[in-house]
Amino acid sequence: MDTPFSTLIRTASHEQHTEAETSTFMGDLLGGTLGVDAYTRYTEQLWFVYKALEDGIERLADDPVAGPFLRAELARVPELERDLAHLRGPDWRERVTALPATEAYAARIEECVREWPAGYVAHHYTRYLGDLSGGQIIRDKAERTWGFARKGDGVRFYVFEGVGNPAAFKRQYRKLLDAIAVDELERQRVVAECKRAFSLNTAVFAALGEEFSSAA
Ligand code: HEM
Repeated sequence: MDTPFSTLIRTASHEQHTEAETSTFMGDLLGGTLGVDAYTRYTEQLWFVYKALEDGIERLADDPVAGPFLRAELARVPELERDLAHLRGPDWRERVTALPATEAYAARIEECVREWPAGYVAHHYTRYLGDLSGGQIIRDKAERTWGFARKGDGVRFYVFEGVGNPAAFKRQYRKLLDAIAVDELERQRVVAECKRAFSLNTAVFAALGEEFSSAA
């Protein structure tokens, strides 16, 4: 029996998921030993990543491979912008900067948007399915640690107003993955791109870990 693609991609990235989850920066952030400035800097990096994921994707709407995954209710850029206005103030745009690791991550996503829709799916999966899963744990911790209003400004990124039932949404998403309109070889390339997406995330965490350390 062929393994469903959703299982394959999940299993293939399992080890790297643990690595991302247990990175020093994430551990320190969720352990409550870092200040809100570290959380803010992380949120800024996410803004660059989601700009890359969401800007200009209209061109993928009719793509047979990536098109089915695009859902308006997933859009995170507007939520990140509200969070950043709260965290940094109304002039946040003038001060926001991407770390080199974030630039590299965003550049790879943009390349996929332009040239490789199946690769874009790997990035889409890695971020949005993660946000709908572990993202909820991060939100809860952030609310408790830095006193944000429940599901309010500062943590809106983690709140998917348009997704009524995340578990059902994820089931549906996995069905889309299982039916992805590519052949076996291309599926393998998508799995490899998913691993790359995790590595790009880990690199951002490492860079943030250098900037913010609870041991300092
Ligand atoms: C402290 C940080 C994190 C925590 C606590 C966390 C936790 C979780 C949990 C509990 C799940 C649900 C697993 C399941 O349904 O069985 C999950 C799924 C997922 N996470 Fe994370 N995660 C974290 C970081 C990340 C990062 C950094 C990424 C990648 C950027 C990521 C990507 C994913 C993906 C893609 C899934 C969906 C797996 C699937 O069902 O196919 N996670 N995470």
